[in-house]
Amino acid sequence: MAYTLEQFSQECHDAYKADQGEKGLEQVRQCLEKALRDEAFVSTHMGPDNTNPRTILYEDPEFGFCIVAHVHTGPKGGHPHDHGPTWAIYGQAEGTTTMTEWKVVKQGSASEPTLVEPEKTYEMTPGTAVAYPPHTVHSPDRKASTKLIRIEGKNLDHVERNPYKAANEAA
Ligand SMILES: [Fe+2]
Repeated sequence: MAYTLEQFSQECHDAYKADQGEKGLEQVRQCLEKALRDEAFVSTHMGPDNTNPRTILYEDPEFGFCIVAHVHTGPKGGHPHDHGPTWAIYGQAEGTTTMTEWKVVKQGSASEPTLVEPEKTYEMTPGTAVAYPPHTVHSPDRKASTKLIRIEGKNLDHVERNPYKAANEAA
């Protein structure tokens, strides 16, 4: 039976209401993987007629987290970033994202970006989701078109982000 957006968002809501820490985030991540592995879900929300880089499918009225569909066309390199004070869960629906996580080597200031070094790089393939707690610096990279479903702890249209720069590019 198909996993609907109503079921998916309700399960995320219930899990997050029960625990807004690591445990809740892990449960929400598992719900996202369930959605990504449901062909009907993916084709309903990310079929060929959806070419939008960013579509908010659901915004939680109580907690403000958002389920967002992303259709990315062509290759693109990513820059290290975080999501400010909120978390994000990246889920791969189609294609491959090469994700790098970065560690902070020098805190920035009002005029200088924070310097970071790559810590680990891995491939995200369809059906997998990874949670990034607040202030986790990451950069998604793709060599071809991808489709993603991400859950943002807060609608990132309204979140201020910190500037980051790779330490080896800062000299
Ligand atoms: Fe991100």
